[in-house]
Amino acid sequence: MDTNRLSKSLCAALNNQMTQEAHAAQIYLSYASWANSHGYDGIANFLFRHANEERNHMMKFLEYILERGATVKIDAIPGPGEAPSSVMDCFEKTFNQEVENTKSIYKIVKQSFDESDWATWNFLQWFVKEQTEEETLIMNMLDKLKIAGGEKASGESLYSIDRDLKSTPDSAQLAQEKTVEEP
Ligand code: FEO
Repeated sequence: MDTNRLSKSLCAALNNQMTQEAHAAQIYLSYASWANSHGYDGIANFLFRHANEERNHMMKFLEYILERGATVKIDAIPGPGEAPSSVMDCFEKTFNQEVENTKSIYKIVKQSFDESDWATWNFLQWFVKEQTEEETLIMNMLDKLKIAGGEKASGESLYSIDRDLKSTPDSAQLAQEKTVEEP
């Protein structure tokens, strides 16, 4: 008896999204390492926390595919691409990455709608909300950087942005405590 509750095409799309979330985690890890090696410990902390969040997103997809009786396909994770050239570039790249991810989620939302797979449609609503939050968070960071002078931001203003991110509640610690249920 076949207990698989996902169509072949939705299963492929969800597996692909799972790998994309892993790819996003690699990107955040790479940018966090770049920030840390340039002395921006606060920014690094912020990005390391996000790497963990992306990994949790990956796990959410994995668990959902299993829950629906379908097959998880663990694939190779593409590399993160080039390191940022500046703090501004880092957050612009991060923003673009999030927008691409949102588009990818929206595609699966539409696909689940077209297939009347309401369980998957409902599952994906969490990600629709999460993407809005993530885009807003990065947009706010970009706004701060623009006020500080964008690419021409002084060392002093970058120092204070970095210090603010460092003195927010210990985000890295919070990230370690995050679970798939509470990402
Ligand atoms: Fe998993 Fe940043 O979205």
